[in-house]
Formats: sequence, structure tokens, C-alpha cells
Amino acid sequence: MTSAPAWEAEFRTAGAEETQALAERLGGILRRGDLLLLTGELGAGKTTFTQGLGAGLGVRPGIISPTFVLVREHPNLGTGPDLIHVDAYRLGSEGEIDDIDLEASMDRAVTVVEWGRGLVEHLSDSRLEITLIRAVGGGPGTPSQADGEAEAGAAPSTGFSTDFSTEDTDEERTIRLAGYGPRWQQAPDLR
Ligand SMILES: Nc1ncnc2c1ncn2[C@@H]1O[C@H](COP(=O)(O)OP(=O)(O)O)[C@@H](O)[C@H]1O
Ligand SMILES: [Mg+2]
Repeated sequence: MTSAPAWEAEFRTAGAEETQALAERLGGILRRGDLLLLTGELGAGKTTFTQGLGAGLGVRPGIISPTFVLVREHPNLGTGPDLIHVDAYRLGSEGEIDDIDLEASMDRAVTVVEWGRGLVEHLSDSRLEITLIRAVGGGPGTPSQADGEAEAGAAPSTGFSTDFSTEDTDEERTIRLAGYGPRWQQAPDLR
């Protein structure tokens, strides 16, 4: 595993669709064996980003948060790589990662690990690290907080709560990409 990135790039998105569009462009250039680590607080947009990756890869849609299922596999609808989507939030050690045996599928898939930092770097000599950051002091009444996934789009305190609503408030995110190892010597052109 390599400790210094070959390059870093920073993007800003104004909402979930822009995040997905950026990820879709990235998904279009990914190959079998690629390992992506997604970092960011709950609700930052890791799963949203993965949905865009899936669109760019051309895998079966329906990417959701795998929080209660450690690993979800999305087969490619064409001839491209499958997507292995992992949520390592509840995994505490490299040993537990080894138990789910991601190595078995890595060669035929793109492997995306939410909360993977510090846990999965040993799976490959190259990796792309993606960090999603909520804008500091972004919207009125939205201080940075460790909130759950259902929080995004929550009604203000004077309003009514629509938990599990599919309506989400678009907010700015800063998205940092960093490439490590031989596969990512060059930064991809995602503009
Ligand atoms: N710019 C943005 N990028 C990504 N998601 C955003 C953005 N603005 C608002 N959102 C919302 O934030 C939430 C992110 O949730 P999710 O992708 O599940 O986060 P995570 O997987 O990091 O916990 C979604 O409800 C999404 O619609
Ligand atoms: Mg998630």
C-alpha cells in the first residue's frame, strides 16, 4: 500500500444529482480490479456517489445504503465490471474485512468500500480515495453534526417530520479525490 497520493483533485457539487454526474463520469473509466474508498460522515453522500458510479459502470440499478448488509453485488448489464459495494461502518478490523473475502471478487469487479479507510488498503497496490465533505455552515440551521442517513432533508423544527421521505435538500459538497499506486499515476479527466 502506498502512503502518498500521486495526485489530488477537488470538486464542488451543488446537489445529489451533480455528485452522481461526477461519479458517473468516473464510473465510465473504471476497470476490473479497481478499489475505491469512500470517506465522509453519515449523510455526506457516499452512497449517492456510489449510485453514480453504478450508472457509469452500467450495472444493475438499485444501489442503496448497504449499512445492514455488509456487501451488495451489482452485476454489470453489459460486458463491463460488476460493482461490489461494501459498507465497513460496523467492521472494526482488517480481520473482519478478510472474513468477507473481497479478494475473491476483486478481479472481476470494481470494489467500492464506504468507511474503508484504514481497513482495506491492503487489498490492492492501488486505490482511489474519495472524501465527501459537507460545506461548513452550509445552510441555515444546519450546523455540522453527526446525523443519521434519514436526517437529510429533515423538516425544520416548526414544520412536520417526513421521515423516510425521498425528498432531499440539495446542499453543497466538497469532493476530494486522491490516487494512490500504479493504477492511478495519472489523474482522470472528469470535467
Ligand atoms: N451535493 C450533494 N451530494 C450528495 N448528496 C447530497 C448532496 N446534497 C444533498 N445530498 C443528500 O444527502 C444525502 C446523502 O446520503 P447518502 O448518500 O446515503 O450518504 P452516506 O452514504 O455518506 O451516509 C442524500 O439524501 C442526498 O440526496
Ligand atoms: Mg452510505
